[in-house]
Amino acid sequence: MNANVDTALVTGACSGIGLAIARRLAARGHALILVSNRDEPLARAAAEIDAAHGVPVHTVVQDLAAPDAAEALVAAVDARGLQVDILVNNAGVFFFGEAADADPARARAMLQLHVTTPSLLCTLFGARMRARRSGRILIVSSISAWRPFPGISYYGSSKTYLRSFAAALRSELGVYGVGVTCLAPGATATGLYDTEVVPVARARQLGVMMDPEIVAEAGVRALLRGDAVCMPGLVTRAMTTAAVLTPQPVIDWVRRRAPWLRPPKR
Ligand SMILES: NC(=O)c1ccc[n+]([C@@H]2O[C@H](COP(=O)([O-])OP(=O)(O)OC[C@H]3O[C@@H](n4cnc5c(N)ncnc54)[C@H](OP(=O)(O)O)[C@@H]3O)[C@@H](O)[C@H]2O)c1
Repeated sequence: MNANVDTALVTGACSGIGLAIARRLAARGHALILVSNRDEPLARAAAEIDAAHGVPVHTVVQDLAAPDAAEALVAAVDARGLQVDILVNNAGVFFFGEAADADPARARAMLQLHVTTPSLLCTLFGARMRARRSGRILIVSSISAWRPFPGISYYGSSKTYLRSFAAALRSELGVYGVGVTCLAPGATATGLYDTEVVPVARARQLGVMMDPEIVAEAGVRALLRGDAVCMPGLVTRAMTTAAVLTPQPVIDWVRRRAPWLRPPKR
């Protein structure tokens, strides 16, 4: 596999884990294409990385939850004459609650953002990597892909799809010299959560949530090494193992008493 890959496209690059991944890749000398749906934060992220690392930084503003997002992004990259050597499918959103209560528009956008767009980006950029017999893809899933849990039916299931997709894609593209890595972070202190519900700053202080820079560094190392899966943090791995081993009746018992979900009798 060619280790001298140069341009990395990172989705959801204006904050959190995506921004941290972009910084880590720039620090290693990679040119960047940063993609997000908000102009200003994206321009700020690009300026910060450019000033710190002096690598070429391009930006594409694109709503990745739009039905034609993958094709539009490829067209935008082509229009600038750029080649994607590393694809980081990171953009994501989170909401909590029962699937039966979900706002259909919000649920549809999550599925588009977590399932359709990253899959099609892997198809479209993956075909070019396969033809060049070189390239790397990082797919950001989550530990929620390891155990279905009430309250995150949409989120967890879409991340389970990504975990499975990454494993199959790795097998397909690996024979052509293209690496595919699945990054599965545990709770990480980013803007993903509504701070009125999740006390992110406090959780980070207490060490319950990880620093996005640590998650990103682990993910980038795994990507460049060509690992199949990266789950950063010993505590995260221990908690995930415990969750996998927990019998389903225990999960159902927790759900029946969970104050964070609607009481069953209402
Ligand atoms: N934080 C955690 O505990 C955790 C745990 C496991 C997995 N993850 C995964 O890590 C990834 C990054 O999340 P994060 O924690 O870093 O949260 P974040 O700081 O909120 O970052 C999410 C990124 O996705 C972008 N994004 C959201 N909707 C978009 C859309 N429709 N089109 C284009 N870009 C969009 C956001 O851009 P805007 O700000 O411009 O909307 C933002 O840059 C997600 O896939 C998430 O599921 C996070």
